Amino acid sequence: MSVSDLKVLLERKQIADRVAEIGHQITRDFSGESVIFVGVLKGAAIFLSDLARHVDLDATFDFIGVSSYGNRPSPTQELQSGWDSTGEVRLTKDVDHSMRDKNLILVEDILDTGLTLTYLRRILMAHQPRSFKIATLLDKPSRRKQAIEADYVGFKIPDEFVVGYGLDYAERYRNLPDICIIPRN
Ligand code: IMP
Ligand code: MG
Repeated sequence: MSVSDLKVLLERKQIADRVAEIGHQITRDFSGESVIFVGVLKGAAIFLSDLARHVDLDATFDFIGVSSYGNRPSPTQELQSGWDSTGEVRLTKDVDHSMRDKNLILVEDILDTGLTLTYLRRILMAHQPRSFKIATLLDKPSRRKQAIEADYVGFKIPDEFVVGYGLDYAERYRNLPDICIIPRN
């Protein structure tokens, strides 16, 4: 598969405008307070770095890593038939800082079945943050298996496999500036 097979779903300008809006919304919602952004590696790295630059508040960053390796089918199967995660998510990197009494904003690339964010919410709530919000760039509501919603959503998208702006297919395409659909054929 080459980049020319990909179909653009969201262009860089559209993404940039929406990310700026969410940043301004967070600035208003937490006016006068500090926040800690916790990015989910690796997909959320680009969204977090763009979003945080539109937030005019005292802010710090942290990152958390998860893997569902072994529970999901291969990327090819994932693409062709859709997949059903068994729900086992594993922590590969914990946060570096205490979240206690912090305004925590968990930043994710895409909310799909909801299994990952349900798992992370449970782990992070155990740190007793002052507040807990989820910011996701993309949301595929039709795929949800766990009842979880994000507080800040960039775009709701149909059930397509997308790459770019941080999102990968077998670790590739994260650096594409637009968000593109990988054709399923
Ligand atoms: P969930 O646990 O099913 O909500 O899955 C969330 C994770 O699945 C995301 O962090 C992505 O890594 C991955 N994912 C889900 N849909 C896509 C997609 O369309 N493109 C790339 N990664 C995806
Ligand atoms: Mg991911």
